[in-house]
Amino acid sequence: MSTSPSVQTGAFEILCRAVPVPGAPQGLASAATIASQWSSAALRIKQMEEQTLALRTSLICAFNQLLDLKDLNTGVHSTRLAEWALHVGGELGLDEGSLADLEVAALLHDIGKIGIPDVILNKPAKLTDEEYSVMKKHPEYGWAVMRNVPGMERASLMILHHHEAYDGRGYPAGLRGEEIPIGSRIVSVIDAFDAMVSSRPYREGMPYAEAGRRLLEAKGKQFDAGVVERFLPVARAEMSSVFAAAGTSVSALL
Ligand SMILES: [Fe+2]
Repeated sequence: MSTSPSVQTGAFEILCRAVPVPGAPQGLASAATIASQWSSAALRIKQMEEQTLALRTSLICAFNQLLDLKDLNTGVHSTRLAEWALHVGGELGLDEGSLADLEVAALLHDIGKIGIPDVILNKPAKLTDEEYSVMKKHPEYGWAVMRNVPGMERASLMILHHHEAYDGRGYPAGLRGEEIPIGSRIVSVIDAFDAMVSSRPYREGMPYAEAGRRLLEAKGKQFDAGVVERFLPVARAEMSSVFAAAGTSVSALL
């Protein structure tokens, strides 16, 4: 029985034996042909990256609109938070990828409230202990939804931990200090501030100075001191423009 000559020379030659690529032209391609093939492959990759980015943006916008449908205040509130979060994240030196995750987390941090019954979500009075324990599930619900979206893994963790407290008394995991993702620490501060200064049907928003005082008071307890210190000047400087962009009057709040 005959054996092929290349097999007889050893494994190295078998592994490295040139195998023609199906459909590839035989013989040497010219430099111009190779350059052209590389150029069209690079163009295709760029188009795919743009398509992925557009799909990601559409998905985030769709989720944000879903929040608007559930609770009219929430979508506008999330847009305000995203503006502030990006500013504070930039001041804290977060890289481009982390800022992109932070933007998603700020916009969609309360996406899990879609799983909370309306009777609890829209209750105008104080929640009972039982109702509050149901409400506290929303970070986990949000994480459970967002972690399924490719590329949103880090943003979903920021969502999961946006109600942790710096001293470990928050939920759902009781993380403390820098165990809490920085994006979650940023969302936590600006979410609390926004809730304090925003008017509700049953109460007036708090003046900036009072909300700022409360944030400073909670430094190192509920909030990361570094985030609070970076955020307050941003809030003071940007409050008018951010509220105006969101279609909300700020005159009564300052
Ligand atoms: Fe929340």
